[in-house]
Amino acid sequence: MEIDGILKAEAKTATLQPSRVILSRATTSRERISQKTSPPVDRETASPLAEIFMPEDIEEGFPILRKELSSAINDLIEEWKSSSKLVSHGLRPATTCLIYGLPGTGKTRMAMQIARELGLPVVLARLDGLISSFLGTTGRNVANLFSFANRYECILLLDEFDAVAKVRDDPHELGEIKRVVNAILQNIDTRREIGVTIAITNHEQLLDSAVWRRFDVRLFIPPPSFEERVSIINCYFSDIGTSEETVKFLAWLTEGLTGSDIEVMATNIKRHRILRPTVDLLGALKYYSITQAGRSVYRYMELLEKSSSQMAVMMNEARDLQLSQKQIGMLLSVSQSQVARWIKENSKLTDHAK
Ligand SMILES: Nc1ncnc2c1ncn2[C@@H]1O[C@H](COP(=O)(O)OP(=O)(O)O)[C@@H](O)[C@H]1O
Ligand SMILES: [Mg+2]
Repeated sequence: MEIDGILKAEAKTATLQPSRVILSRATTSRERISQKTSPPVDRETASPLAEIFMPEDIEEGFPILRKELSSAINDLIEEWKSSSKLVSHGLRPATTCLIYGLPGTGKTRMAMQIARELGLPVVLARLDGLISSFLGTTGRNVANLFSFANRYECILLLDEFDAVAKVRDDPHELGEIKRVVNAILQNIDTRREIGVTIAITNHEQLLDSAVWRRFDVRLFIPPPSFEERVSIINCYFSDIGTSEETVKFLAWLTEGLTGSDIEVMATNIKRHRILRPTVDLLGALKYYSITQAGRSVYRYMELLEKSSSQMAVMMNEARDLQLSQKQIGMLLSVSQSQVARWIKENSKLTDHAK
């Protein structure tokens, strides 16, 4: 409560100040980061406050997202590329961006690709690990981090940004934390005129409106849909040459999983099959499901270990799949007539139940 009051007071003083927006700063040249530039450090422990990534070292490839989202992100990149044009028209480019969504949906990957596209180095600070160092030094490290990011031409990436919110709830840290959180927020505001800041969080519900409002752009990255999972599977399974129906089957099985989950699954399956060449995809999938116990999202995969008949029935009924009984049989390593029998038995059962 108290913190909210302080934030509001702070927001008010910000609006009371004359609106002397120093837009020209956005276009003045700043120093370039080179391979030799060392990241800012904590003065006492000498531990780095951020990691630096040069754009040419960032592996190419945006996460696979729905078309509308990808194209909005492209537009945003265009806007950032043309920021001097906006400034010359007296407009402030949108420079603060919050990316949120479940863990593993590709948020960090996307932020890194944006930097790569813009040809700018990334100054990456993971706030969850840093907050304690911020506390010990009463905000001095916050100033170090931002003055570094403001001095150089770069994108400042604040990953695990919700760490800011989590510590705000800690009653023991109240006095100190107020200073740190306010220092971070004020620094984000000051940086608006200087360069792009991207914050990333898996827990946007922890951020209160005072924090939320500070971002010009907010992007939600949802878990992948069936179609997106098809593309993700095509990407990560490409080297084991999977047929169209296998890809659809895998996309169906992975409902509820993220891009990162699918990437991990592909790696596991490839490993399993290299060491056991006689095991087919289904066998590898069963093994994977068993060794991933306790993950409630694996709704279909768990069936795989238990009952092929139930699996066949569900695959037959799944709208997205549109597979023939023959294809279902091939995927489950049983004959078409077996699949037909299972489906018939099941419809008899459901008829009885009616
Ligand atoms: N939509 C996606 N398309 C392709 N790969 C993805 C996708 N989402 C996640 N990944 C893979 O998972 C990895 C981890 O994702 P990451 O960006 O760290 O997720 P987040 O930051 O949202 O937790 C990425 O580097 C990428 O290889
Ligand atoms: Mg991340």
